Amino acid sequence: MEEINMCGIIAYTGKTQAVDMLLAGLFHLEYRGYDSSGIAVLGKNKIELRKKKGKVEELKKSILCHPLPKSTIGIGHTRWATHGVPNEINCHPHQIGNITLVHNGIIENYKTLKNSLEKQGYVFVSDTDSEVAAACLDACYKEERHALKAMAKAYQLLEGSFAFAILFEDHKEAIYAMRKHSPLVIGHGEDENFVASDISAFLQFSKKFITLQHEELAEIKKDNVHVYNLELKEIFKEPEISLLDANSVQKNNYDHFMLKEIHEEPQVVMDTIHSIMPNDVSDLSNAFPNLEKFNNIHIVGCGSAMYAGMVAKYMMEQYVRIRCECYCASEYRYQTPTYDENTLAVFISQSGETADTLAALRKVKEYGVKTYAIVNVIGSALSKEADHVIYTQAGKEVSVATTKAYCSQLCILSLMTIHLALLHNKLSSEDLKEIKEELSLLPDYIEKMIDYPYYETLAQQISTHDNVFFIGRGIDYILSLEGSLKLKEISYIHSEAYPAGELKHGTISLIEDKTPVIALVNEERLYEKTMSNIKEVKARGANVLLFVKDMRNISEDVYDECFLLPSLSKFLQGIVSIVPLQMLAYTCAKQRGCEIDQPRNLAKSVTVE
Ligand code: F6R
Repeated sequence: MEEINMCGIIAYTGKTQAVDMLLAGLFHLEYRGYDSSGIAVLGKNKIELRKKKGKVEELKKSILCHPLPKSTIGIGHTRWATHGVPNEINCHPHQIGNITLVHNGIIENYKTLKNSLEKQGYVFVSDTDSEVAAACLDACYKEERHALKAMAKAYQLLEGSFAFAILFEDHKEAIYAMRKHSPLVIGHGEDENFVASDISAFLQFSKKFITLQHEELAEIKKDNVHVYNLELKEIFKEPEISLLDANSVQKNNYDHFMLKEIHEEPQVVMDTIHSIMPNDVSDLSNAFPNLEKFNNIHIVGCGSAMYAGMVAKYMMEQYVRIRCECYCASEYRYQTPTYDENTLAVFISQSGETADTLAALRKVKEYGVKTYAIVNVIGSALSKEADHVIYTQAGKEVSVATTKAYCSQLCILSLMTIHLALLHNKLSSEDLKEIKEELSLLPDYIEKMIDYPYYETLAQQISTHDNVFFIGRGIDYILSLEGSLKLKEISYIHSEAYPAGELKHGTISLIEDKTPVIALVNEERLYEKTMSNIKEVKARGANVLLFVKDMRNISEDVYDECFLLPSLSKFLQGIVSIVPLQMLAYTCAKQRGCEIDQPRNLAKSVTVE
């Protein structure tokens, strides 16, 4: 069966116990998948493997009970399966003949290769394409009797995408690596070197790294690294120093990365705003070049990134009166919306690697449409391929559920809308003055939201229930979509967000005694309307948690719990109002004892369709 995976790979050679270094690396790579993991180390006489279904913690426990041999060289893998069950047979490393390897990517021609290798006598035990790649490499090694020559030969035979870290039974002093499309970096330490899908896997040990490119092979020993092209000509690469802070991949004193990342939001928002407007909000043309040319804006993303885009669509249409559509990338890539020379397509992605978003970008580029990317990860595929890139300054986000990156996306999109509003003469000088004042106060407002002392009480109203509804109108409905996604993905409570006026067209039948309904009320012009919808659910027994920015004229009998939101400019309100919904989701998941940073079935970057 075809195995398509996202997966994380790590390899180590150096002075310390490889098992410890590999496990440490795998914990940092779990965001790429965590349904099974494995490591292989070079023992005295042979390579030994350990594989486990489940999270890296399971692998660690297994190694603690039955230690692997002492070794200073090894490879490791954490997997996210879409095809082929996550079991110990399909789990990496895969071993065949002289080769033991870990793989990230898809070998597209693995069926053809498998048939021909079976004829040569190879027997396969797993459903994976990765085991076929190992056999292919072994067959090439039998012919060449030279590790790098075998790799160069296999490179030409393997179609699709791959990043490999490889151990050769015959070459006990080195790790070998090669890549095509899937990411791979090599970290340089003192008498130790690393290979990984992402620098976070070894950041606490070394910040110095090189990026392996397509058609490059590497031989990594504990005290040197050599990179070659496919003709085995050596390529000299100057190491880069990562600007990432090693603390960004540590939980520090927080129980979960999600909580740590929510607490980073005030700083992230400040950094993002400063990066876009070093001086003044009145001129953002450097950050958003040529925006005046476009009168048809498409915003594209997946999940929370799409919900951030929906906020922008709402603001651009409502406050700038410009045509803007927001699309789900997995749909957009197969649709044919109308484009013309005045169309700008804006792609939003934290990782910059989401397969559907990337495919959507590539598609519109074929039509000659101009593209912006709003991306968090520097150097990611989306950032390289868009015509113009705007970086959110969220730093490394570890928790699978996005929080600070979503907030920073809202910041960029709000500033983009403000810039458009200025270009289209839709902002009064009073509006601009208000925005200027509030921009500098945003971190304080967010901090106040985070420090609210009664999230436990609010969460208790929800965390014992199986069904929850969010309701709101206008921007409140769109923020509710994100609040609801946050709740369901980490607490596993079924949750739906509805336009407040739509509930009575069917879904209100699900409201029974004590059903939690979270009502968001920022929209001043729709205030009365939303209030009457809240009364409708209250009359049917709902337990209403009201998030509102104006308590005037609200009688106590319409809600059970109430949270007072600050009142900000309509361009900035969302950035602050989302924070309590994130905190609420976090607290509910904690009360339910969920694995908050790594919810089941998910992965941080979704690099498969
Ligand atoms: C939800 C979440 C996902 C991502 C989505 C897109 O908390 O994190 O919905 O927003 O998978 O990912 P990126 O932004 O990396 O393209």
